[in-house]
Amino acid sequence: MTRRLVVNVDHVATVRQARGIAEPDPVAAAVLAGVGGADGIVVHLREDRRHIQERDLRLLRETVPGYLCLEMAPVPEMLKHALEVRPSSVTLVPERREELTTEGGLDVVTQRGKLQEILGALSEAGLRICLFVDPALEQVKAAHRLGADAVEIHTGCYADAVADSGSAGQELERVFDATQLAARLGLDVGVGHGLDYRNVAPLVARAEIEEFSIGHAIVGRAILVGIERAVREMKARVG
Ligand code: PXP
Repeated sequence: MTRRLVVNVDHVATVRQARGIAEPDPVAAAVLAGVGGADGIVVHLREDRRHIQERDLRLLRETVPGYLCLEMAPVPEMLKHALEVRPSSVTLVPERREELTTEGGLDVVTQRGKLQEILGALSEAGLRICLFVDPALEQVKAAHRLGADAVEIHTGCYADAVADSGSAGQELERVFDATQLAARLGLDVGVGHGLDYRNVAPLVARAEIEEFSIGHAIVGRAILVGIERAVREMKARVG
């Protein structure tokens, strides 16, 4: 099975925004990530525009030759951008202004009504829809019931457990229970958040996981070795 490594270039934009000038440009980073073997690019247009800007999204749509994924909060303003730009896929994520990064999956179970409207509009426009959810069976089932095409299982707790204690058996089990169920329900299966050059290995061994969405580890390494090489090294692990 072919697996996709989808590289998140948000933090290239984070460095740019720290200076408020034009560089480094996430669009240039996306081109070089492609040269390094990225199967796609993902960006999160946040409501507070702390990193990716509308200009980035527009230019990425024009320059990324293949798969471009837009992560966004399920709110009307973002829906407008998704419908205008028409990315290859839209991943709906929860968003809180005070968070450093996305802190958990969408609560699809309790937010069904709110999500239904956004999903309806995206689906009517023919866009592929992925829901970012915690590794919880009821969330995967709810995503399926709501008509999502894919789920991305949140691997943040797994990554934290590896960092804290070096082993993460229970967290990994939860992730695998969720990925297995999602595949059984016919959903496309991705994973993301906190994945790095080491902790990605057990996930790569799972046949049902098709997409790896990785940002911080690759952009962090890119500062030291360049983005082409950082992506090539991750692609060699993901396969
Ligand atoms: N997937 C989702 C839904 C995310 O929100 C993020 C962070 O923007 C990632 C994957 C990538 O996480 P990381 O930067 O930790 O690799």
